[in-house]
Amino acid sequence: MNILIVGGGGREHALAWKISQSPRADRVFVAPGNAGTAVDAENVDISDGDIPALLEFAKQNKVELAVIGPEAPLAAGIVDVFEEEKIRVFGPSRAAAELEASKVFCKNLLRGADVPSADFRTFDNVDDALKYIRDRENTPVVVKADGLAAGKGVIVCSGQGEAVAAVKMIGADKAFGEAGNRLVIEERLVGQEVSVLAITDGRTIFTLQPAQDHKPAHDGDTGPNTGGMGAYCPTPAIDEATLYWVEEHVLVPTVHAMKLDGRDFRGVLYAGLMMTPQGPKVLEYNVRFGDPECQPLLMRLKTDLLDVIEATVDGRLSEIDPADWDPRPAVCVVMASEGYPGGYEKGRVITGLEEADALPDVKVFHAGTKLNAGQTITSGGRVLGVTALGDTIAQAKLQAYKAVKCIRWKGAWCRTDIADKAIG
Ligand code: AMP
Ligand code: GLY
Repeated sequence: MNILIVGGGGREHALAWKISQSPRADRVFVAPGNAGTAVDAENVDISDGDIPALLEFAKQNKVELAVIGPEAPLAAGIVDVFEEEKIRVFGPSRAAAELEASKVFCKNLLRGADVPSADFRTFDNVDDALKYIRDRENTPVVVKADGLAAGKGVIVCSGQGEAVAAVKMIGADKAFGEAGNRLVIEERLVGQEVSVLAITDGRTIFTLQPAQDHKPAHDGDTGPNTGGMGAYCPTPAIDEATLYWVEEHVLVPTVHAMKLDGRDFRGVLYAGLMMTPQGPKVLEYNVRFGDPECQPLLMRLKTDLLDVIEATVDGRLSEIDPADWDPRPAVCVVMASEGYPGGYEKGRVITGLEEADALPDVKVFHAGTKLNAGQTITSGGRVLGVTALGDTIAQAKLQAYKAVKCIRWKGAWCRTDIADKAIG
């Protein structure tokens, strides 16, 4: 079967690498892909936002299954368009993708379904939001833009002054454009963060092992938030009993509430959780694989992912056995361009990739890379996700950083403490 993967980041490289290993995969296309997917699959020069061109390509190349990586095409309704044309597609419909695309929708759904989450209020005008903050004195809050903002529309505030500034930036100055037309202001939670990803066909839930992301740019969780500077899996921050509790009290009621709302959810349901002293609470939902969580997850997954994806699309996930995992943990270290998450230059030549990839139990997943006259050059902020397996998390970390040391370009940097929370 021919498969089209939509997207061009580290997550899509991991998906292409894993799906290509299935005996039922014939040609695996990635649009637009990167220098890594050009090796493990076939790149197609169409952007992930050009839905008509993607559809046309799929029709002309006998694509029998499309797998959508990023949130933007999902929120734009790519699944609805492909389904209309009878091309099987993995991901939620536009209506179901609201769970990520609108934080107001998500918070209201969680409240209605009694899923534990931070207390909140929503606002559609700046003055009411400012009054609310001023009335609450110095209670720590988090200010969120309602819409998609590439992970940047969330401001965790330490005092009233910061909260006022955040409301003005998002709501009045429109730092994230239309995404800031509505605001969520919620209680600030404390604890360790865990990513629990599950695949669901709307009836059965296929929960993946828990992972932990590292969103702040610098060591010790300092600096500005990024798309994620590294991840590892599994994480001891949540034990098996609590994971089961999350399935029962978070994932199941969410899938159920989506169905009741007429938005049957199919695809990846990714719960970003805060492990608070009162138990796990949902920080947000994403409607796709996490990036970089997908890289260590898929490196450990032994089950044929294509089987799971097809069963999801066909609504027969209940027939699939529970996931089979490599017992060894995996650690992914993101190497980034100088300046990221702010502005950065592109086009730097990357060396040492083959040497790194040749190390045992290492896979270098590409993100912001492209091929140029036989060389691999940087083309994004997050450039590579260097991922390794090890007998322990500490050994996986060691191996990942050994591979990182092989790779060079001008201005390359990474966090040096990925997975340290698990190593203690
Ligand atoms: P989100 O996109 O909603 O997951 O938010 C991005 C990041 O902001 C999360 O990974 C958390 O680190 C932080 N965050 C979001 N909501 C809260 C909250 N209620 N309390 C504390 N931190 C939060
Ligand atoms: N790693 C966070 C995300 O994919 O949203």
